[in-house]
Order: sequence, then C-alpha cells, then structure tokens
Amino acid sequence: MIVAVDGPAGSGKGTVTKMIEKELGFLNLDTGATYRCVALEALRRGLTLQDEEQIIEVANKIDIKINNVGDKDIVLLNDEDVTEKIRTKEVTAIVSQISSIVPVREKMVEVQRKLAIGKDVIVEGRDIGTVVFPNAEVKIYLDASEEVRAKRRYEENLQKGINTTYEEVLENVKMRDYNDMHKKVGALKKTQDSIVIDSTDLTIDEVVKKIENIICEKS
Ligand code: DC
Repeated sequence: MIVAVDGPAGSGKGTVTKMIEKELGFLNLDTGATYRCVALEALRRGLTLQDEEQIIEVANKIDIKINNVGDKDIVLLNDEDVTEKIRTKEVTAIVSQISSIVPVREKMVEVQRKLAIGKDVIVEGRDIGTVVFPNAEVKIYLDASEEVRAKRRYEENLQKGINTTYEEVLENVKMRDYNDMHKKVGALKKTQDSIVIDSTDLTIDEVVKKIENIICEKS
C-alpha cells in the first residue's frame, strides 16, 4: 500500500509520518531527504546554484539509501550517515532551488520509486500524489498557516541546536513555499483525489488519528 503525504515545509509531514510508521508498521520515506543529499554533496564540492550541469552530475552519481533502524530512519549518502548533516541551515537555504532543476527531479523520482519497491510505505514530499506515485491508494495534502509552520520549524531548530531566529525561519518558509508551488515540474499542489487536512489548530495526535482512520478505511 502506498500512502502519499504532500504539503509545504513545516506542515508536520515528517513528525506525523514517523508516528504512523511506528504505529502501523509502514516504512516512512522522506523524499525531501533525497534532494537534501544532492544539496549537501553540491556544497561539499564547492558548487553554487549556477553550476547546474555539475549539480545534475552529482544527482546522477551519488548513491542514496534510507535504512530504518529501530525508530530512526538513517539517510546514507555514498554509505556515509548524513541524517543530521542534511538538516543544516546551509543545505536548507539551497535545497528548494536544487530541487527545481528538472533532470535532478527526474533522477530523484527514480531513486524514490526504487526505495519504495515491494513495501507498505508512507511517502512524504511535494509531488508524491501527482508525480512519484499518482496511483497511491491514499493521498493526503497536509497544510497549516505560514506562521504556525515557521514556529514549528523554529522550535525544531532550537531543539537541534541550530542557531536561527523566528524571522529567518519565516522568510525561508515563504521563499520555499513560493519555489515549491511555482516549479515547472513537480510543483506542490492538491490533486482532485487528495484529502486536505489543515493542521493549524490540530495537535500532532489529532492529525495522526485522522490519517490512520483514512488508511484503515482504505485497507
Ligand atoms: O521536506 P523537506 O523540507 O526536507 O524538503 C526539502 C526540499 O526538497 C523542499 O524545499 C522541496 C523539495 N522537495 C521536492 O521538491 N519534492 C519532494 N517530493 C520533496 C521535497
């Protein structure tokens, strides 16, 4: 079974899908992590956003694996554990633009489909219900107000020891929303068959329950 969860940055996709992974035994596939791996490797090679050809080469050459170990998902970039390293401010600042490069998207969609083969998966991203798995049995579009999403990301950063201000996070959320919704390919959008959940005034547990009920109805 494939459950697609799309939505903007900070809408709670990561937290919610990890809880469902634990409770229902699905594999949680965080597709944003694949774009973050490309961004990290590009930074390590000293590339800038102008170096499109080299970034495409990076996307085609790197090996990405996501291993579920206990209740953690370990992201491996060429067999190195980069689970934390792909969350830095530097990676977050460029990842949306990196994910707008069409050949990078084509390669990552291929990688994401391979990672899901033969498994019950709950897949989070931006274009899962539209491009990666258009035949997913369940499609959720998770939303929340810009301010609430920025507040969640800001608090997450504080916990991880990442030094940012709320204003900085809000700006990044707005910039990524714009980029993610205006991509030529794989833009973030609701589909006719997606169920919209607005989590602005909901607790994490309430969102998880709603999605689990939808999954149970379909299975
Ligand atoms: O979910 P995230 O914030 O880790 O995603 C990082 C970036 O990758 C985000 O700015 C948009 C992009 N992305 C995408 O274009 N398509 C996906 N399926 C997942 C993420």
